Amino acid sequence: MCGIVAYIGEKSAVPLLMEGLKKLEYRGYDSAGICIACNHRLEVIKRSGRIAELEKVARLNEISARIGIAHTRWATHGAPNEINAHPHLSCHGEIAVVHNGIIENFRSLKDMLTKEGHQFTSDTDTEVLAHLIEKFYQGDLATAVIKALHNVEGTFGIAVLHKDEERLVIARRGSPIIIGLGQRETIVASDAVSIIPHTKKVIYLNDNEIAIIGMHDYRLQNLNGESIANDIQEIRWNIEQIEKRGFKHFMLKEIFEQPEAIRNTMRGRITNGQIKLSLHTDISRIKRIIIAACGTSWHSALIGKNLIEKYTGIPTEVDYASEFRYRQSIINRDVLLIVISQSGETADTLAALRKAKTAGTQTFGLVNVVGSTIAREVESGVYLHAGPEIGVASTKAFLCQVVALLLLALYIKQQNGEQIDPTLLEKIEAIPEQIQQVTERSDELREIAAAYLANRNFLYLGRGINYPVALEGALKLKEISYIHAEGYPAAEMKHGPIALIDANMPVVFIATKGAVFDKVISNMQEVKARGGIILTITDHDNPYLRELSNHLMIVPETLEDLSPLINVIPLQLLAYHIADLKGLNVDKPRNLAKSVTVE
Ligand code: F6R
Repeated sequence: MCGIVAYIGEKSAVPLLMEGLKKLEYRGYDSAGICIACNHRLEVIKRSGRIAELEKVARLNEISARIGIAHTRWATHGAPNEINAHPHLSCHGEIAVVHNGIIENFRSLKDMLTKEGHQFTSDTDTEVLAHLIEKFYQGDLATAVIKALHNVEGTFGIAVLHKDEERLVIARRGSPIIIGLGQRETIVASDAVSIIPHTKKVIYLNDNEIAIIGMHDYRLQNLNGESIANDIQEIRWNIEQIEKRGFKHFMLKEIFEQPEAIRNTMRGRITNGQIKLSLHTDISRIKRIIIAACGTSWHSALIGKNLIEKYTGIPTEVDYASEFRYRQSIINRDVLLIVISQSGETADTLAALRKAKTAGTQTFGLVNVVGSTIAREVESGVYLHAGPEIGVASTKAFLCQVVALLLLALYIKQQNGEQIDPTLLEKIEAIPEQIQQVTERSDELREIAAAYLANRNFLYLGRGINYPVALEGALKLKEISYIHAEGYPAAEMKHGPIALIDANMPVVFIATKGAVFDKVISNMQEVKARGGIILTITDHDNPYLRELSNHLMIVPETLEDLSPLINVIPLQLLAYHIADLKGLNVDKPRNLAKSVTVE
């Protein structure tokens, strides 16, 4: 949610900031802006809309400065227009701020500042910060920022400039900030993707910490003004991983990367018939598991519940993190809370984690982004190693989450002294190759997709472990193609959604072999009898299924427990091709942002 990039160093700041912003655009694309400091003057240029709009400003090519801050916005307070775009200036134009997060008490602060004579130009909470810092400014920006932040409730990742100070002041509470240490330059950003092209040496700022970064040095403090020393860490991702490499969209590239991504999740974790995970969890203490997550990660959690209960016998609940954090849930020392998050920054998931820790619950994380807040705060966990996921719609992270949950379930089973079936391990190891067999048939799905561009609604039905796959298929379609889609357990259809079935309602069935295969066929008949259009994903080619289905996609056969890993691929591709054929911006769908750091 919102992307921040800041630069101080010997190079020209503007091209670097613009390049950094473009890599962060997936975090929000309502408006973009830049502020540079030069000759005791701040110059702000901003535009509503995407970064491409900002890039058109000819003046940008004329500016030569070595310090600057920039922002791409996902609107929270105030409409997505130019006035509300960041950076925001203080009254006298001496201080500029870019901000990711929400200042919850901005109304009372704004009232107070207005009474003191401050005049505001925007509707944003962020502008209040600029004025507040100005109020406290007495010749030292860092001191003023600390004083201002003591008056602020809410979340922030901020970068601040003062026209007379050759330094950047950065602070964080709840919204990620990474400091990249280059050769005679420092690049600060909300996400490592903007830093990797320049350096791999980074410092992660923690909550309530501030960094004061000069041309040749930096220092870190907490908000009490005490010096701190965070470790310098090395980012492992490389530049190729964040490029499109010939694919039209990141989403398509990431769908195709899935075989390799799950190989990376498994690497070193299945050896000689054993599952190897380094857990600091006391398994004997676990009487109940709760999994908290949001969106697609919540869908992988539902699959995880099936796997964990089957392989470990431990009762497992799945909760939306946003519900769990405010519900009076029964959590204690016997519970293991698993949090799942691609970004590792989702505000609700982080809050769920912190709530559980306060209750003395053991915590475990499945996170993709190394060094992210959730990754750092969980007691123990596994990294997904999916590589950077740039497309706003999650694909490869979902698959890696399911694999990691499977490994976790099997690991607990093994720790309980039970054998793992070698056939199961063989089948798991065959999955990447089988996924590739599906991605190679992407063109077939494009042809099917072409028939559905005018439809306004879709239903996705699956049962058992494939019910969450139906949810995920529907989510993918709605978020990138803006077609209303619902996922349902197939048998629930007759308790309501069946009323929707007619010749304009495509119904996607997940009908791979397993305990409920015959039941799903009966549900297909119910749809057929009412004139619905049927698209079937199956591993079972027979004349009867062909007769029932308007389109049939045959996928490779595997065990039922592993089938979600294969069945979701055609659904990702179907959603992708429908959205692309409709000419939509697949990687940056409207109103969405990749990393949801506000609640
Ligand atoms: C959907 C999607 C979102 C995320 C959700 C949680 O394609 O990407 O639903 O899954 O915002 O994000 P993370 O996993 O980063 O916590």
